[in-house]
Amino acid sequence: MNVISNRAAGKILKGDGFQIAQQAKAAKLRGYDVLDATLGTFYYDDSLFRGFETVKKVLNSISDEDCFSYAPIIGGASFATAVLNWVFREERAVIEKDMAITVIPTPGGTGAISSTVYLTLDPGQTLLISDLAWGPYSGIAANYGINVEKYQLFINNRFNFHGFCEKADAIIDREGKLVVIINDPCHNPTGYTLTAEELENIIAYLNQKKNTPCILLYDVAYLDYSNEGRALSRYKLRAFTEAYPHILIAVAFSASKSFCVYGQRLGAQILMSKNKDTLSRLYQAETFYARHCWSNTNRSMITMMVTINTDSKLKAELDKEIDTVVAELKGRSEIFLSEANECGLSVYPYHSGFFIAVPCIDNDRVLRELRETEFLYFLPYHQSIRLALCAIPQDKIKGIAAKIKKVL
Ligand SMILES: Cc1ncc(COP(=O)(O)O)c(C=O)c1O
Repeated sequence: MNVISNRAAGKILKGDGFQIAQQAKAAKLRGYDVLDATLGTFYYDDSLFRGFETVKKVLNSISDEDCFSYAPIIGGASFATAVLNWVFREERAVIEKDMAITVIPTPGGTGAISSTVYLTLDPGQTLLISDLAWGPYSGIAANYGINVEKYQLFINNRFNFHGFCEKADAIIDREGKLVVIINDPCHNPTGYTLTAEELENIIAYLNQKKNTPCILLYDVAYLDYSNEGRALSRYKLRAFTEAYPHILIAVAFSASKSFCVYGQRLGAQILMSKNKDTLSRLYQAETFYARHCWSNTNRSMITMMVTINTDSKLKAELDKEIDTVVAELKGRSEIFLSEANECGLSVYPYHSGFFIAVPCIDNDRVLRELRETEFLYFLPYHQSIRLALCAIPQDKIKGIAAKIKKVL
């Protein structure tokens, strides 16, 4: 008796980050001195996990209605304003002058990415991602019967624009459409951040593909953790205003990461295009999808974002708290990269953010040995291992590069 639909057959959650994190937790409970650097959750240098004080203060003051009743499916105008102000900051007016924009709340950045992949590609069509990429992109595509094609992300330690164009050309020739995910800044798993020129080149490439629907899913999960600073990360987004009307840009925002509220599940899909008709049709489809997939998102989180948006003092306090996280990440990365350099461990180009990746062909063996001999837990990525710097307090970073080098 087959209780599983054909669509769902064979889908098994294996080797997922959350599962490997559970193994680390179990080893810790058995009394081992485990370093769990698996998940993208920030721990401070005092080894503790905690939410932002500003966020907690707001949450403690909201009414029962704003906490426990349903949130509107479409979030509401004040939520859209809060998201656009947060994501675009000083660039909002410039971007809105040239682009039509809509916003819909989603459960985390994951909800934004999965809904837009579902709504822009049919089964059998192809999603383009890089070889080094956040694992769930492939699972999201598999869930909907969508194929995945990958380009090699780096060439000579820089974004491989040529490789990107080659793969995109082939998909466009075959399918007459392109949907591509770019995760920037602070790419997961490497910490790479595109330069303004690299982003402009991507838009210029898409502009050449006139009469081809092009969807750029720009995943900004780590937008607030870039060493280039919050103003420059946003300034770069002006490149979007150059996009011709056949391009739709879907910016996937994650409140989980920006507000350090991972378990509360809020994000947003910002849709923008010069073609108002395309934008409106996708927005309607997003609304329909939301209602029939997750229905509403977390009302307290929506209230929290709206409250912070309307209070410049709260916003400034939160910015300061985020600055502390960025500074601690920077301190950790500097130690790791300098030790890696000393012991000759090669590392993919890292600029900032939660993760660093080390090239490694036989990553299963290396990860197993690091677990069994050093009690170090990292995650496997394409021909590499990923260290979640965000989960390693500064005093535990020292020596890790040499231990990895030894096992390699
Ligand atoms: C690259 C990337 N995109 C999106 C997400 C989505 O996170 P969430 O659904 O918790 O907002 C994550 C989370 O780890 C991520 O690493």
